[in-house]
Amino acid sequence: MKLILLGPPGAGKGTQAQQISKRRGLVQLSTGDMLRAATRAGTEIGLKAQALMDKGELVSDEVVVGIIAERIGQPDCKPGFILDGFPRTLQQAAALDRMLDDKGDRMDAVVELRADYNQLVERIVGRYACSKCGEGYHDRFKRPKVRGVCDVCGSTEFTRRADDNAETVTTRMMAYYRETSPLIGYYFCKGILHVVDGMAPIDEVSAAIEGVLAKLP
Ligand code: AP5
Ligand code: MG
Ligand code: ZN
Repeated sequence: MKLILLGPPGAGKGTQAQQISKRRGLVQLSTGDMLRAATRAGTEIGLKAQALMDKGELVSDEVVVGIIAERIGQPDCKPGFILDGFPRTLQQAAALDRMLDDKGDRMDAVVELRADYNQLVERIVGRYACSKCGEGYHDRFKRPKVRGVCDVCGSTEFTRRADDNAETVTTRMMAYYRETSPLIGYYFCKGILHVVDGMAPIDEVSAAIEGVLAKLP
């Protein structure tokens, strides 16, 4: 199954992609995570991307399309994958269609996590993740079972993203409105758009997504 999770910053794309990945054994492909990994590795792409990400602006289509094209060609993506944070512009969506078309393939579904924008800033500024395994948490909405200890790997080290501050969030939201929200219409017209309430509790959102996936042909 090939799935896209679409939604503004903080809508829950990463949270839900992690869960679907665990449940269904599909690879989660997050362009944000890949770019942050490239930044940590100090590659040329990573360093260029960092400056844009820190400001909340989009990285060029050429760079992210290149990353995804290389990644979905790998064997672990054969059974399917979940795209989290890609595509983000109409140009990226068209490039993805071409990539799959060339293999006689197509996306199965796009799940839009519909969000109440007033609540997204709180979600974003309260977010943190395990430094070791990457499991995502939130100061209020998703605390580890034992305080200060990762549920998944037991690590006690956590990190926060450099772009998770109230100022950058506004720029990220603007980028979403301007560049990414047209994809809702794009995928609606292709007949593969499904809308889920992203403001319900995490488990309810997961259940709603499973409901959508279960009905796919
Ligand atoms: P990216 O990393 O994709 O960031 P984003 O789109 O801003 O989205 P977020 O990761 O902030 O939100 P999310 O929807 O994953 O929410 P999460 O599940 O963590 O991109 C970062 C940057 O990289 C971009 O600004 C751009 O510069 C660049 N980039 C990436 N891809 C690109 C592309 N394709 N093209 C160009 N540039 C690109 O949830 C947020 C918090 O809320 C968490 O703490 C979570 O625990 C909590 N939470 C989640 N769901 C719920 C719920 N239902 N109820 C309560 N709390 C919840
Ligand atoms: Mg994310
Ligand atoms: Zn961990």
